[in-house]
Amino acid sequence: MARHLITSALPYINGIKHLGNLVGSQLPADLFARYMRGRGREVLFLCATDEHGTPAELAATKAGKPVEDYCAELHEVQARIADGFRLSFDHYGRSSSPQNHALTQHFAGRLADLGLISEVTEKQMYSNADGRFLPDRYIEGTCPNCGFESARGDQCDNCTKQLDPTDLINPYSTISGSTDLEERETKHLFLRQSEMREKLQNWIDTKADWPILTTSIANKWLNDGDGLQDRGITRDLDWGIPVKRGAEDWPGMEGKVFYVWFDAPIEYIACAQEWVDAGKGSDWERWWRTDKGADDVTYTQFMGKDNVPFHTLSFPATILGSQEPWKAVDYIKSFNYLNYDGGQFSTSRGRGVFMDQALEILPADYWRWWLLSHAPESSDSEFTWENFQQSVNKDLADVLGNFVSRVTKFCRSKFGEEVPTGGAFGETETALITELTTRIRAYEDHMSSMEVRKSAQELRAIWVAGNEYLQNAAPWSVFKTDPEQAAAQIRLALNLIRLYAVLSAPFIPDASKALLAAMNTDDTSWPDNVPAALEVLKPGHAFTVPDVTFRKISDEEREDWQTRFAGKRD
Ligand code: 2FM
Ligand code: ZN
Repeated sequence: MARHLITSALPYINGIKHLGNLVGSQLPADLFARYMRGRGREVLFLCATDEHGTPAELAATKAGKPVEDYCAELHEVQARIADGFRLSFDHYGRSSSPQNHALTQHFAGRLADLGLISEVTEKQMYSNADGRFLPDRYIEGTCPNCGFESARGDQCDNCTKQLDPTDLINPYSTISGSTDLEERETKHLFLRQSEMREKLQNWIDTKADWPILTTSIANKWLNDGDGLQDRGITRDLDWGIPVKRGAEDWPGMEGKVFYVWFDAPIEYIACAQEWVDAGKGSDWERWWRTDKGADDVTYTQFMGKDNVPFHTLSFPATILGSQEPWKAVDYIKSFNYLNYDGGQFSTSRGRGVFMDQALEILPADYWRWWLLSHAPESSDSEFTWENFQQSVNKDLADVLGNFVSRVTKFCRSKFGEEVPTGGAFGETETALITELTTRIRAYEDHMSSMEVRKSAQELRAIWVAGNEYLQNAAPWSVFKTDPEQAAAQIRLALNLIRLYAVLSAPFIPDASKALLAAMNTDDTSWPDNVPAALEVLKPGHAFTVPDVTFRKISDEEREDWQTRFAGKRD
C-alpha cells in the first residue's frame, strides 16, 4: 500500500496568518492528508513554523521581545489556531529545533565536501544609520524586474523574482527608513546552483504531470538561467542556525547564520525527526531515506506560487546536490493568491480575515468549506462576504444541513429514533445509487489528483442528489398510503447521512464527526461499494436527531463583518 508523505509550506513565525495564507498551503494539504487517511493509506503529514531570518527578527523587535521568546510564544499560538482549524498535522515542528540545526549544518558540510559551496567575499548593503548589514527584509526598494516599489531584498512579491539586496533600485532600510546605505565587504557561502543546472533540468523534465503553474515557474527560472545563479546561503544576522561545516566550526564564518531559505525546507526532514523524538512515531528514515524504505513513499508538497522557485530549484539543489539518498518530492501542488473583497489581504494593514478572528466568528467547517470550494487553483480568486454568505447558506445549510434535519426529524416523528425496516428499494433508489456511484468515483479521481475545486463541486453534487431524491421520493406523502415504502426511503436516507459524513470528512471534519455521532456509528469505511455502503445502518439501529448542523449567516452579520474586517486589525 502506497504511503504518503505530505508537507505544507512552513508559515513564517511572524504573526497569525490570514485566510489567504491558509488556503494557499496548509488547508489543501490537510484536505489531501485526510482524504488519503480516509482511503486507508498510511500518511505522514508535517508542517512547522519557519522561525529564522528577518521576518522573525523584525516581528520580535516590533513586539519588544527577545526573538527566542517571541518564536516560542508564536509557535504555541499558531499551533493552537491550526488545531482550531482542524489541521491534522502528525507533527507541527519548529525550524529552530536542534534537529534542524544539526541537519542544516550536515547538508552544508556535505555540499562543501562535494565542492558545491564557495566562499565569496562580496559587497552587501550596510546601513550607516543602523550600524549593520541589511539582508533580505531589512531592505526594500524598487524591483529591477517589474518596477514594483516595495520589493524586498530577497524576493519581489509581485513577480516572484529572487533578488539580492544590491539589485534593488532606490533601496532603504526597513528598520530606520534610512537611505544612507553603502556597499561593504563581507564573506558569505554560496550554493553553486549553476553547477547543478543540468541535473535540475533533467529532474524537472521528468515531472510532466505537475501542474502548469508549478512547472512554468520552475522552467522560467531554469531557462533564463536566472533562478540558477549561485545563491548566498549565509547572512550577517544573530538569529538563525550558526554556520558550521557539519559539527565543525567554519573558519571565517564565525558569527554568521544560514539564510532562512536554506534551513526552512530542511525542516521538512528535521520535522520527521522531531515527530519521532516527540514519541509520536518510530522511524523517520522510512519516510525520508530511499535506502531505508522511502522508495515506496509518494511525497507531495503544497505551497503558494511565491514559494515555487525555492521548492523546484533551491531545495532540490540541496538534497540532490548532497548525493545522499534523500526522498525528493514527487508532486508539487501550488496555488495562486486569494484576494480579499476588492483588494489584497494585507498583514501589515490588517486587511482581511485572520485565522484567529475567523474562528471567533464561525466554526472551522464554515471557513474550510468556502476556502476549499473557492481555492485559487487556476487563477487568483477572491473572498467576498456576499459569496461567503451565499455558499454557507446554500451549500451547507440548505443542501446538507437541511437534508439531515428533514430525514432525522421525519423518521423520529413517524418511526421513532431507529432505522426503520421497510421494504426493498425501487427504481428511484436504484437510479440514485447509480448516480452516486458515478459521482463518488469522480470525487475520488478529483481528490487523488488534488483538484480541490472540482472535488468540492462533486461533493456538493452528491449532497444535492440526496436532496433531489428526497424531494422526488417524498416519504411524507408516501407514508400516508404506503408506510412500508416510506420506511425503506428513510432507511436509505439515514444511510446516506453516514455516507455523507464519510465523504465530507476531509472538507468539514467537525460536521462529519457530529453526523457520525448522531447516526451512532463509528463505521467510517469508504464506499468502495455504494449499495453496500447504503446498508451499513441496519433496521433497528438507534440514532439521534443532531443539533443544527449548519446555521445560516444573516444579512446583518454579513454587513457587520464586512465593516469590521475592512481596515486596521486591533
Ligand atoms: O513563504 C513563506 O511563508 C515561507 N515561510 C515558506 C517556507 S516553506 C519551506 F521551505 F520551509
Ligand atoms: Zn518584481
